Amino acid sequence: MDRYAVIGNPIAHSKSPLIHGLFARQTGQQLTYEALLAPLDDFAGTLRAFLREGLGANVTVPFKEQAWELVDTRTPAAELAGAVNTIARQADGRLLGDNTDGKGLVRDIQHNAGFSLSGKRVLLVGAGGAARGVIQPLLEAQPAQLCVVNRTVEKAEHLARLFRDLGPISAAGFDWIEEPVDLIINATSASLDGQLPPISPGLIQPGLTWCYDMMYASEATVFNRWAAEQGAARCLDGLGMLVEQAAEAFALWRGVRPETAPVLAALR
Ligand code: ATR
Repeated sequence: MDRYAVIGNPIAHSKSPLIHGLFARQTGQQLTYEALLAPLDDFAGTLRAFLREGLGANVTVPFKEQAWELVDTRTPAAELAGAVNTIARQADGRLLGDNTDGKGLVRDIQHNAGFSLSGKRVLLVGAGGAARGVIQPLLEAQPAQLCVVNRTVEKAEHLARLFRDLGPISAAGFDWIEEPVDLIINATSASLDGQLPPISPGLIQPGLTWCYDMMYASEATVFNRWAAEQGAARCLDGLGMLVEQAAEAFALWRGVRPETAPVLAALR
């Protein structure tokens, strides 16, 4: 049987085996997909051991940057993201690294939620690996402006420089921006600790501004609860992004893109 896996640390609560299992059933593909815990100091060993037999792997926190270093070739998306979340072992044994996170986010926003990014003012909160991974696909969707806002402004400025040839990107600190925007995307890790990035409530225009937290949990995240209190038009969480990035990985490995709506409905 063709074998795939997701590798991370921690990994026990990963929904990826369930998602890929549902994709396989839906598309009639014969494969197995397991969750593998890699020791923090030996991601490379775990990956290599699995890919002696396995055909591909997803990579999650905290190994995406290491995966970028380890693969033999990278897609343009992975190259720019500086991180790899999907690895395919090719016929000659070489490892191809892709990053499907940004594609997944943009598809969830535009296709699933029906929010067209074209011409919109978008605020991307955070400038770590998660933010960097989604910038290129966001710019490809042609927003009027993509502003990266971060507690450590230098990191936002670095990202704005890195991507400036791809579209209208700028950088700011939290207290620099005052005008409302059309969409705020939370790409900080603050939600993980139940914390709220210091975003001015004035950036949300009640009934107009949409908010998207790339995190998800069984209940609304702190950021989404805060956004709802400010009157945000819609508050979305990252579960749709998770399913969409998985569908992109599945398509890369199997050559067929599964329907995501029934899988997302099953997870909700
Ligand atoms: P990830 O891979 O999840 O992006 P990371 O690279 O460590 O993780 O980046 C974490 C991001 O969340 C950073 O943008 C960080 O801001 P700093 O660069 O200023 O550290 C942001 N972050 C984490 N906790 C935060 C908080 N409580 N308030 C605001 N930003 C926070």
